[in-house]
Amino acid sequence: MATSLLIAFIIFFIAQASAELPDEPTMAALKEELSVPEWSSPNSNYCSWRGVTCNQSTQLVEKLELSRLGLRGNISLISKLTSLQSLDLSSNSFHGSIPSSFGDLVELVYLDLSMNKFESSIPSSLGSIVSLKSLNLSNNLLTGQIPNSLKSLEKLEELQISGNSLGGYIPDWIGNFSELRLFSAYENRLSGGIPKNLGLFSKLRVLNLHSNNLNGVIPESIFSSGELEILVLTVNGLNGRIPESIGNCKWLSSVRIGNNRLVGRIPLSIGNASSLTYFEANDNLLSGEIPKEFAKCSNLTLLNLASNLLAGVVPLEFGDLKNLQELILSNNSLTGDIPKSLLKCRNLSKLDMSNNKLIGSLPINLCDTSRLQFLHLDRNAITGEIPHEIGNCVRLLELQLGSNLLSGTIPSEIGRIKNLQIALNLSFNQLYGPLPEELGKLDKLVSLDVSNNKLSGTIPMELKGMLSLIEVNFSNNELTGQIPIFGPFQNSPSSSFSGNRDLCGNPLNSSCGYLENEYEVDNHKVSYKIVLVVVGSGLTVFTTVSVIVILFMLREKQELSAKAAKATGDSASIPNPVIVAGNVFADSMKQAVDFDSVVKATYKDSNKLSNGTFSTVYKAIMPSGLVLYVKQLKSVDKTVVHYQNKMTRELERLGKLSHANLMRPIGYVIYEDVALLLHNHMPNGTLAQYLHETPQDEYKPDWPMRLSIAIGVAEGLAFLHQVATIHLDISSSNIFLDSQFNALIGEIEISKLLDPSKGTASISAVAGSFGYIPPEYAYTMQVTAPGNVYSYGVVLLELLTSRLPVDEQFGEGIDLVKWVHSASKRGETPEQIMDTRLSTVSFSWRKQMLAVLKIAMLCTDITPAKRPKMKKVVEMLLEVK
Ligand SMILES: *[C@@H]1O[C@H](CO)[C@@H](O)[C@H](O)[C@H]1NC(C)=O
Ligand SMILES: *[C@@H]1O[C@H](CO)[C@@H](O)[C@H](O)[C@H]1NC(C)=O
Ligand SMILES: *[C@@H]1O[C@H](CO)[C@@H](O)[C@H](O)[C@H]1NC(C)=O
Ligand SMILES: *[C@@H]1O[C@H](CO)[C@@H](O)[C@H](O)[C@H]1NC(C)=O
Ligand SMILES: *[C@@H]1O[C@H](CO)[C@@H](O)[C@H](O)[C@H]1NC(C)=O
Ligand SMILES: *[C@@H]1O[C@H](CO)[C@@H](O)[C@H](O)[C@H]1NC(C)=O
Ligand SMILES: *[C@@H]1O[C@H](CO)[C@@H](O)[C@H](O)[C@H]1NC(C)=O
Ligand SMILES: *[C@@H]1O[C@H](CO)[C@@H](O)[C@H](O)[C@H]1NC(C)=O
Ligand SMILES: *[C@@H]1O[C@H](CO)[C@@H](O)[C@H](O)[C@H]1NC(C)=O
Ligand SMILES: *[C@@H]1O[C@H](CO)[C@@H](O)[C@H](O)[C@H]1NC(C)=O
Repeated sequence: MATSLLIAFIIFFIAQASAELPDEPTMAALKEELSVPEWSSPNSNYCSWRGVTCNQSTQLVEKLELSRLGLRGNISLISKLTSLQSLDLSSNSFHGSIPSSFGDLVELVYLDLSMNKFESSIPSSLGSIVSLKSLNLSNNLLTGQIPNSLKSLEKLEELQISGNSLGGYIPDWIGNFSELRLFSAYENRLSGGIPKNLGLFSKLRVLNLHSNNLNGVIPESIFSSGELEILVLTVNGLNGRIPESIGNCKWLSSVRIGNNRLVGRIPLSIGNASSLTYFEANDNLLSGEIPKEFAKCSNLTLLNLASNLLAGVVPLEFGDLKNLQELILSNNSLTGDIPKSLLKCRNLSKLDMSNNKLIGSLPINLCDTSRLQFLHLDRNAITGEIPHEIGNCVRLLELQLGSNLLSGTIPSEIGRIKNLQIALNLSFNQLYGPLPEELGKLDKLVSLDVSNNKLSGTIPMELKGMLSLIEVNFSNNELTGQIPIFGPFQNSPSSSFSGNRDLCGNPLNSSCGYLENEYEVDNHKVSYKIVLVVVGSGLTVFTTVSVIVILFMLREKQELSAKAAKATGDSASIPNPVIVAGNVFADSMKQAVDFDSVVKATYKDSNKLSNGTFSTVYKAIMPSGLVLYVKQLKSVDKTVVHYQNKMTRELERLGKLSHANLMRPIGYVIYEDVALLLHNHMPNGTLAQYLHETPQDEYKPDWPMRLSIAIGVAEGLAFLHQVATIHLDISSSNIFLDSQFNALIGEIEISKLLDPSKGTASISAVAGSFGYIPPEYAYTMQVTAPGNVYSYGVVLLELLTSRLPVDEQFGEGIDLVKWVHSASKRGETPEQIMDTRLSTVSFSWRKQMLAVLKIAMLCTDITPAKRPKMKKVVEMLLEVK
C-alpha cells in the first residue's frame, strides 16, 4: 500500500509538472492497485483503457465499467474521480467495507457494487450522492440496517439490496421516492412491515421482498399506480388480505405470495389483472371460493393455491385457460366434481387436487387431448370406476388416486401408460378383482401401491416386467398364491405383502408348502444395489433413484436391441434404409457425407464408441474417407422425431452457435423414427476414456493439460448458461477431446431438443449421469444451472483424483463427492485425495491442484445457492492458472 501511494504521489507530481490529463494521478494509482487486465499498456491515455469513458472536452473520467474481471484491492481511490457518473464494479472479488469516501462521487447516477464480498454496513455517506438513479448493492455480505441518510436519494429509480444480511426495518421514506420503479431486497433479515406508502407516489413495476421476516399487510399502495408487473413476497410472515386494488394492475404478470399468513378471500378483481401468467399463493390461510375471474387471465400458466382454507367448487370457467400448465389446489376443502371443462386445458401438464373433498367420478376422457404428466387426485371422495380410457394418458409420469372411494377393477389399459415412472398409487380404495398382468408392461415404474383394496387372485408372474420397481405395496387385499420370485419383491419388507390371508413365500414368513427356488441374482439386482448404496437411504429419495434406474434399464435395453440387430445379420444383408430427411450444414462438407453410409454404420456393433444417457455414438467412415461421429438418439427421445421440423430448425441454429468448447452438430439424418446427429470425429475420445481407461504404462503426468481441459469445459458451460441453455448431462463421458486435447462439451443439442419449456419432452425423464446428479434433484426434479455446476464439480474432482464418480472402494453410500467432502472428518489430508502421480511432481502443480480442489468443493456444495456461477468458476480457474 505504502509503495503504491508513493508511486501515486510521484506520478502525481510528474503529472502536475507536465500539466497532464486531470485524472492521470488517480488512474495511474488505480492501475497499480487493481491490476486490471489490459490496463498495462504504458503511456497511453487512460481514456482509452478498457472500461473507461471520459468526457471528450474535459478528459475527466465519467464512466468506469469494470464488472466481471476478477478484481480485488482497495477501491477508495475511485472516490477521487469526482466527475464519475457511472460506476460498475459488479461481479468481482472486492471485500472490506464500501468506502465511505464514495459519498464524494456526487455526480454519480449509476452505482453497481453487486456480487462482491463487501461487508459491514452500508456507509451513510452514500446519502450525499443525490443524483443517484440506480443503486445496486445486492449479493454481498452487508449487515446492519438501511441507513436513514439514504432518504435524500429521492431520484432513485432502481434500488437493489437483495442477497445480503441486512436487518432492521424497511424505512418509510422509501415510499416517498417518486421515481422508484424497482425495489428488490429479497433474502435479507428485514423485519417489520412494508411501508404503507410504497408505490403511492411512484410507478413501481417490480417489488421483490421474498425470504425476509416481514409482517403486517400487503399495502394497497403498491397497486395504486397500476404499473406493478412483478410482485414477489414469498416466505415472510405477512398477514391480512390480498388488496382488492390488485385488479388495477393490468400489466401484472407474476404474483408470488406463498408461505405467508394471508387471510380472507382472493379478490374478484384479480380477473382485471389480465396479463397474469403466474399466481402462486400456496401455504396461506386464504378462504372462500376460488374466484372464477381467474379464467379471464387468458395467459395464466400456473395457478398454485395449495394448502389454504379454500372451499366451494373448482370453477368450470377454468376450462378457458388455454395456456394453463399447472393447476395446484391440493390441501384445501374444495367440493364438487372434477370439472370436465378442465379437459379443455390442452396445455395442462400438472393437475394436483389432492386432499380435498371432491366427489363424483373420474372423467372418462381424462386424457383425450391433454398433455397431463402429473395427476394427483388422492385423498378425496371420488367414486365410480377407473375408466378404461385411462390408457390414453400416455404422457403420465405419476398417477395418485389413493384414499378415494373408487370401486370396480383395475383396467388392464393402465399397462399402456408406458411413461408412468414416478408412482402409481391406487391404495385405500374399494377396488376388487385381479391385478391385471398388463401392469408388467410398466417397466419404468418405480413405486406401485395397490394396498388396502379388495384385490383378489394371484400376483401375476408378468409383473416381473416391472424392471424399475423399488417400492411396492400389495398389503391388505385378498390376494392368494405364491409371491413371484422377483428381486424388487423379495427385497421389500414383509409389510408390503401382509394382510393377504392366502399369500405365501418370501418376504412373508409363510412358506408355500414346497421347496422354493433360491431366487436368481439377475443383473438388475446388481444395479439396484449400486444405485441404492450411492443415493443413500433409498426410499426417501426414490425419485432420483427412479430416473437413474430408468436410465440403467434403457441402456441395457439398448444394448440388447443392438445385440439382437447384430444377431440378425451384418449390414450387408440389410436393405437400404429409407431416409426421411437429412442435411449437412456446411457446404464444403456436403460432398463428403453419404447418408446411407451414415445409417449403415450404426448397424454395426463394432462401430460403437460410447453410450451416453441420451444417445449412442458410432464411428462412421464415409466412402470419401471422411470420419464422422454419428450419434443415435435413444428411445427416450422418440418425441424428438415427432417434432422433426422443430428439431431440424433447432439443429441448424445450433450448428451456427460458435464456441470453441462446444461440440456442435454438423448435420443430421432421420430415417424411419431414428434420429442421427453428425459430428466431427474426435480422435482422442472422451475425457472419461482418457482419465479412466488410459493404460498405466501410457500414463504421463499431465496436470497443465487437465487444468486447461477444466477451463475449457467451464468456459463452454458458462457460454451455454449465458445463452440460457441448461445442459442435461454433464459428465466426463460427455466431454470430448480433439486432436489437440481441447475439451468440447457434447450433447448440447440434447439439452436444446429436450428443453421442457419448449414442450418436446419432460424434464422428469432427464437427470443426467449416475454420480453427477445434484442432491437437490431428488426434491426438485429439475435440472438447473446450479445443478450443472454440481455436475461440473464432479468432473473437476475426477480430474484431480483420477477416480470414477462412483466406485465401490469409497464404501457404502459414498460417492466421489461425499468421499472428498468427508476426507477431513476421516483425518485425511488433500494429498491423500488428489492423484499423487500429479501432486508430487512439483510444488507449483500441487499448489494449483489445491486451489482447484477448493473450487471443486464449492461447486459440489450440497446447497445449490452456495455454488458459484459458471462464469465465476471460469474466473477462479483462470486465477489459478
Ligand atoms: C463534458 O463536460 C462539460 C463541462 O463539464 C459539459 O458541459 C459537457 O456536457 C460534458 N459532455 C458530456 C458528453 O457529458
Ligand atoms: C484504502 O486506502 C485508503 C487510503 O487511500 C485507506 O484510508 C484505507 O484504510 C484503505 N482501505 C483498506 C481496506 O485497506
Ligand atoms: C444491479 O442493478 C441494476 C439496477 O437495477 C441493474 O441494471 C444491474 O444489471 C444490476 N447488476 C447486476 C450485476 O445484476
Ligand atoms: C414523505 O413526504 C411527505 C411530504 O412530501 C412528508 O410529509 C413525509 O414526512 C415524508 N415521509 C417520510 C417518512 O420521510
Ligand atoms: C374490472 O375493470 C372494469 C373496467 O375496467 C370495472 O368496471 C370492474 O369493476 C373491474 N372489476 C373489478 C372486480 O374490480
Ligand atoms: C398474453 O401474452 C401474449 C404474448 O406474450 C401478449 O401478446 C398478450 O397481450 C397477452 N394477453 C393479455 C391479455 O395480456
Ligand atoms: C399451449 O401453449 C402454447 C404456448 O404457450 C400455445 O401456443 C398453444 O396454443 C397452447 N395450446 C393450446 C391447445 O391451446
Ligand atoms: C399438501 O400437504 C402435504 C402434507 O402436509 C404436503 O406434503 C404437500 O406438499 C402439500 N401439497 C402441496 C401441493 O403443497
Ligand atoms: C399412496 O397413497 C396413500 C394415500 O394417499 C398414502 O397414504 C401412501 O403413503 C401412498 N403410498 C406411497 C408408496 O407413497
Ligand atoms: C404398505 O401399506 C401398509 C398399509 O398402508 C403399511 O402399513 C405398510 O407400512 C406399507 N409397507 C411399505 C413397505 O410401505
